[in-house]
Amino acid sequence: MTAQPFAAQLDVMARLQEPDNRKDPFPFLAWLREHDPVHQTPRGTYVLSRHADVAQVLQESGTVFLSPDRAKLATQFPEALQHRSMAVFASSIAVSNPPEHTRLRKVVSREFTARRVVGLRPRITEICDRLIGEIAEPLLDGEEVDLQRRFAEPLAIGTLSVLLGVPDEDRVWLASLVEGVLSAFPGAPADVIARADWLTAEMEEYLVSLIERRRNAPEDDLITALAGPNEDLAEHELVPMLWALWCAGFKTSAAGISNGVLAVLEHPDQVHWLERDASAFANEVLRLNPPTILTPFVRIATRDVEFGGGTVTAGSDVRLLIGAANRDPEVFDDPERFDPSRDTKASLAFAGGIHFCVGAGLARAEMEIALPRLRAQLPSLGYASEPTWSPAVFHHMVKTLPVVHRRTDGRKR
Ligand code: HEM
Repeated sequence: MTAQPFAAQLDVMARLQEPDNRKDPFPFLAWLREHDPVHQTPRGTYVLSRHADVAQVLQESGTVFLSPDRAKLATQFPEALQHRSMAVFASSIAVSNPPEHTRLRKVVSREFTARRVVGLRPRITEICDRLIGEIAEPLLDGEEVDLQRRFAEPLAIGTLSVLLGVPDEDRVWLASLVEGVLSAFPGAPADVIARADWLTAEMEEYLVSLIERRRNAPEDDLITALAGPNEDLAEHELVPMLWALWCAGFKTSAAGISNGVLAVLEHPDQVHWLERDASAFANEVLRLNPPTILTPFVRIATRDVEFGGGTVTAGSDVRLLIGAANRDPEVFDDPERFDPSRDTKASLAFAGGIHFCVGAGLARAEMEIALPRLRAQLPSLGYASEPTWSPAVFHHMVKTLPVVHRRTDGRKR
């Protein structure tokens, strides 16, 4: 591929949705990082891909780079706030700025602690073993199973539900709303926004009723904890907080698990790490194949900022290519190699700075539990056919992951 003339017209978002890039976006991301690290799309958004630049924007979020919060949306797209789908998004922690962000973050961090995650590990293990039990029989009978639908997604939904306190019978339904709820944005087609508003109303009304139930009958879950007396969280901020946790936590953690399964299938020489140090294995999966390859939430530059490969001008939207930064040879030796022994501290899979993922510890715990257990109980998984890839532009994740259990001689059982 040649450099600048092509880069000037390049619509990165559209390119990332092309089938070849859905499957393997990394050669394209490497090209961008090398040839056009401060890329401006035809719509004016800057897309940064070097590790140093991405890390700088993350660290300067809340100061030099601001999120499009409610106040910003009210000036730029006042009509958007009349839509439930966009109003709840604009009130959420994910796009708020200090001092609101600092306060909201303090509230959620006080309750969603490392200790709470440790306490959830036995429940995650239980859900994991139940799901493995359900797929083991058909697999051992020679049937094909879609691991995304029958393992990664239900494990992610189950874990998130236990964390928050969503009852068994409502989980699948509540998770089914997420994609539609997140589909609205200023300028989206009217029917898409109308549907997102309707689904958001369903989700919000459900969350309000659940808050009420937990206030009447408290449980050991995050909804009960956040819905208790709390001088740092106003009543109208509670639903957007739960909305953010549910919507941000579901597809991403399912993708963490399935990207981990892909690593097991692709790198049999490295699976011994699952017994030795599952956390190192999970961290390397997240570095090499981060579920969020492009930040879903834009930042807006408050002033001109010079980067190595160009200048971002004041007032512009900025997006960050985590998928490119995590394979930057300036930071990671032999970056395309899957190597659980490497130091992954500089990985930006969960972003950084003030918006560093609240659920990182939980997502890691799910991978650390699920991958060794799946490997130990179903040691001979192999592809039944090629996985299919999700069209979601911000995430690199499978839509289906069809597997079979092979005999040791390599044939299907
Ligand atoms: C492997 C799984 C996950 C990945 C890769 C991931 C990735 C990310 C990234 C990259 C961000 C920053 C986005 C930005 O600033 O533009 C983020 C923020 C966030 N994530 Fe996650 N996430 C995962 C799991 C979870 C889970 C399980 C939860 C909830 C239980 C969660 C809740 C959130 C929330 C609420 C934010 C916004 C935090 C803030 O703005 O202060 N995430 N996540």
